[in-house]
This record gives sequence, C-alpha cells and structure tokens, in this order.
Amino acid sequence: MRLTSCLLFASLLFLLFSCIEMKKPGKGRGLKRARHKLTRDRSARIRGAGRHSRSGPSRQVSPSCSESTESGEVFADCQERHLTSVPISQTWSKEPKHLLLARNRIKILRDGAFLGYESLVTLDLQQNQISVIQEGAFQGLSHIKTLLLQHNSLETLTEEALIPMPNLRYLRLYDNPWNCLCSMDSLIRTVQVPSNRNLGNHARCVAPIRLKGTKLKQVDAELICKESDSVGDPQGDGTENTVPIDPIPFRGKPDVTTSCHTYLFPQVRLDCSKRGLTEVPTGIPDDVVHVDLSYNSISHLRARDFQSARSLRFLNLSNNYMERIDPASLSGLLHLRELDLSENGLHFIQYGVLEDLYFLSRLKLEGNPWVCDYSIHYMVYWLRLHPGVRDSGLMCRSPLQHIGETVEHYVHSYNKGCPKDRQQSRADEDQTDPELWNTAMEVQGELEEELEPGHLRVPKKYEIIRLS
Ligand SMILES: *[C@@H]1O[C@H](CO)[C@@H](O)[C@H](O)[C@H]1NC(C)=O
Repeated sequence: MRLTSCLLFASLLFLLFSCIEMKKPGKGRGLKRARHKLTRDRSARIRGAGRHSRSGPSRQVSPSCSESTESGEVFADCQERHLTSVPISQTWSKEPKHLLLARNRIKILRDGAFLGYESLVTLDLQQNQISVIQEGAFQGLSHIKTLLLQHNSLETLTEEALIPMPNLRYLRLYDNPWNCLCSMDSLIRTVQVPSNRNLGNHARCVAPIRLKGTKLKQVDAELICKESDSVGDPQGDGTENTVPIDPIPFRGKPDVTTSCHTYLFPQVRLDCSKRGLTEVPTGIPDDVVHVDLSYNSISHLRARDFQSARSLRFLNLSNNYMERIDPASLSGLLHLRELDLSENGLHFIQYGVLEDLYFLSRLKLEGNPWVCDYSIHYMVYWLRLHPGVRDSGLMCRSPLQHIGETVEHYVHSYNKGCPKDRQQSRADEDQTDPELWNTAMEVQGELEEELEPGHLRVPKKYEIIRLS
C-alpha cells in the first residue's frame, strides 16, 4: 500500500516536471543553463540592436548598457551587466572613446574582439574573469591610452598582445595570478622599460613559488627563461621542489591599488569600502574625485593622508572608529564638497581641521559621541563662518545635562550665561594646557563677538567674506 502510493506520488512528480520542461524548455535544466540562455538572449539582443541601427535612421543603444557624452567624449557604460562577451561596436550610436566593461563575466578576449572600436582611448575590463587574451584581441586599438585589466584571472600574457596599442600609457595588471615563467618574459621586459613607468605597476607573480610576491617590474627576465630550461631536466630541481617555501607576506601601509577598486566613470572614483583598512591607504591618485572609505576600521586621520588627492570632491569616512583627526589631515582639499564623518567615535573636531575646506557644502556628523564642552566650540564657530555648509547630526551625547541637545543650542546657551569676566576665571583654570587654552581663547573671543545681541554689538571693523 505504502509502496504504491509512493510510486504514484513519484510518477505524479515526474509528470509535473516533464510538463514544466515542455512548456519552458530553457528553465527546466537548472540555473546554469538558464543563465547561459539569458546571456545568449542578451547578446542576441545587442546584436539585434546593432543590425537595426545600421538600417534605421535612429540608432538604439542596447537596453543593458548606457551611452552618454561628457565634455564631447562618448562613454559606453556596460559596467556590472553580467556580460560574457564584448558588445559589438554597432551597439552604439557614435563611436565610443571610453568603453567600460568593469564587473562583468567575460572570460576570454578573442582575436578581433574590439574590431569597430578603433576610436577607443580607454578600455576598462577590470573585475571580470578573463583568463585568456588571444594575441590579436586588441587589434585595431591604436588610440588606446588606458587599459585596465586588474582583478582578473590572467596567468600569462605576451607582449605581442600589446603591439597593436602603441599609445598605451596606463596598463593595470595587478590582482591577477601571474605565472612568471619564460613565456612571460616579453611582457616583463616591456613593463621594465624605464619610459613605461605606468605599465604593469603593482602586478606580482603568484607562481612559481620562488617568485611569489615579486613584482613584474622586478623579476629578472633573463633568469626566468634559464629556470624553465632546468625544469625540463627532472633531476635538476628535484630536491628544491620538496623544500616548502613560505610565501612572503606583504607588509607596510596599505596601497590604494591593492586595497581599492578604481572606477573611471562617471567620475574617477575609489571604492575602498569594507576592506578592513585600519588607516587611509597611500597613493590616492591626484585625479580621483570620489573616495569611499566607509565601513573600515580607521581610527585616526593623519597629516598628509590625503596629500595627493587634489581633485577630491567627495570623501566618505562613515562607519569607521575615528577618534582623532589631525589638523593637517584634510589640508589641501580645497575642492572638497561632501564630507561624511557619520558613525564614528569623534568627541570633537580639533581646531584647524576644517580650515582648507573652502567649498564644502555637505558635512555629515551623525552617530558620533559629541561631547558638549569647550572643545566642541570650534566646530560651531566654523559652521557659523561657513553658512554655505549644510551640516547634520551635531548633537550632544554627553555630559549628562546636555544629552539630546543640539550642539548649536548648547554653545548658544553657554555664551548667554557666560559673561566676559567668567571667561577670564575659566581661562585661569585651563592653564595646565596652555596650547589648548590659547586656541580656545581665540575661538571664544570671536564667538562672543558673533553671539552678542545686536543692539550691544559694536560697529564691525571688518567683514569676513566667504570665497565661493
Ligand atoms: C557614505 O557611505 C555610507 C555607507 O556606504 C552611505 O550610507 C552614505 O550615504 C555615504 N555618504 C554619502 C555622503 O554619500
């Protein structure tokens, strides 16, 4: 009885499944096939769009990518579109100068993959799964200046593949599992030519084990080919192979090229979010506009941390453990527009920290344990001198009597109940730390002048004009 009902159930199931299979043949055989079909459909769609566009008067961009023009240059943006191949060039209404294919699923670049893309100046292929680049893959790309291949699965590449690109200036190859054997010698020699100083920086060998961690720039090309000869002789290296060699760990300050992802569009952006960083990585390029350092473990901003980041407009430091910001750490950031310091451990902002931020328009401060005592006055003073800055989240978290109050309100009531003679006696108390006392006095003096009721205010001798 039990057996028959089981059989009945099983055959019902079978019927049901074969029914689904018949109706939707693409979906019956598991996710992999479905995905495969999807990508086939998509590339068919792109191709379709291309054909259509050649005949019709209005060309259409494939729905999965976008096309835009920035300062007269056409950007073809196919970032993060699950693509497994390069969209054909007729996809675009104009010949793109910048083709962005970052974060897709491309595995192979075949000969002629970029035919029709002869105007390209930038080609971004980072964060794909590229393991093979055929020798003629970059054929026709004679204008290319920037080629990004970082974060892929390349073990080998020959210089022949680069020959069609005589104008190549920036080539990023890091975070690929380079196998530094003799077949790599032409590429290694190329990146080592002194005038090619921006080709292949930071790329390191992963294999063979004795070269693990060595930069391509520093591998002895002569030697790798000699070694490969001795590999052919089984006795030659036999003993050496049995000795385990520990990989050499990298030490020192983290570097943006290995800790962050770089994007070129719509602005030059560094995504360093959630990388476990305990300090600001070095080597922020001077053309970077946006740096996201959120969700790390940075506790301290040091002088010169952003020294090279002259073009920075957006800086996100939210969700770190920041307790200290050195006065010179944000100096030179003349163009910074947005600064997000929310969800950190800040008690106050030290005098001087914000002085260079002439064009700041947004300052996020929520989620910090702001202490409403004398050290917070600088912050309020600075905000008053910079009315163009929209701030948020400046609330007293301690001491007890000010919890829940806005810092602004606290400073206001402090000054109301604080006539000039009291300020003098307070200054006497603070003499243990003369440096702090000096800056606090300056701030206090100027604040009081600002906060005096209008009818008591002496005529202004000077005006502070915000440059904007
Ligand atoms: C900073 O990053 C956090 C977390 O990713 C995000 O929620 C926040 O909106 C960002 N801030 C700005 C100003 O974009």
